[in-house]
Amino acid sequence: MRILITAGPTREMIDPVRFLSNRSSGKMGYALARVAARRGHVVTLISGPVALRPPPKVSLVAVMTADEMLSAVKRYLSRCDALIMAAAVADWRPRRVRAQKIKKTTGPKVLRLEPTADILKTLRTKKGRRVFIGFAAETERMLVRARRKLAEKGLDLIVANDVSRPDAGFEVDTNQVTLMEASGGVRVLPLMTKMKVAARILDWLEASERR
Ligand code: CTP
Repeated sequence: MRILITAGPTREMIDPVRFLSNRSSGKMGYALARVAARRGHVVTLISGPVALRPPPKVSLVAVMTADEMLSAVKRYLSRCDALIMAAAVADWRPRRVRAQKIKKTTGPKVLRLEPTADILKTLRTKKGRRVFIGFAAETERMLVRARRKLAEKGLDLIVANDVSRPDAGFEVDTNQVTLMEASGGVRVLPLMTKMKVAARILDWLEASERR
């Protein structure tokens, strides 16, 4: 399969030295890219700024902002059979990016923000026969919220992730996720390495091709 994977955070500049972002390390998305390429899939990895080396045989597209990630996903979508959005896209950006460093003494006390585009929602109408997989990073009422995201974003599968656990979600090498299918199926996976979680997600994707 030709698989498009997004990974890492996006970064929304405030001024030349400061930005808004989140705790995503990119480890889950990079694990997906590594396992998918190892299995012989053709992988394009669209990555926000992370401190990881791209896995072998993966085409890397480096982006910074949510807008850049949206443009890159749009550009590569027509050439793929599946999209896995593992990136933690920043939901907000400063309304105005300052050209000069904001000074401590004269700077604004309040930062005005505007929402970034929701990449999955924007591309919903372009889905066609492609398989769309998303993640849900939650700190409470995980299953209810993930199920809602699955429907709102028109996904085939959502990987629900309780990011408040110290051994799952952001930065660590392990994850504990629940796979929720559009068709209603729910599979709670035990705590395992992100490489193993990636393998389970790809098992599901490969099986969905045969269905
Ligand atoms: N996502 C996206 N575009 C955004 C934000 C998120 O495509 N601007 C994708 C993520 O890559 C993920 C899914 O949507 O696959 C859910 O992301 P998450 O951060 O859990 O939820 P949000 O949609 O941002 O909603 P909230 O922050 O309110 O939980």
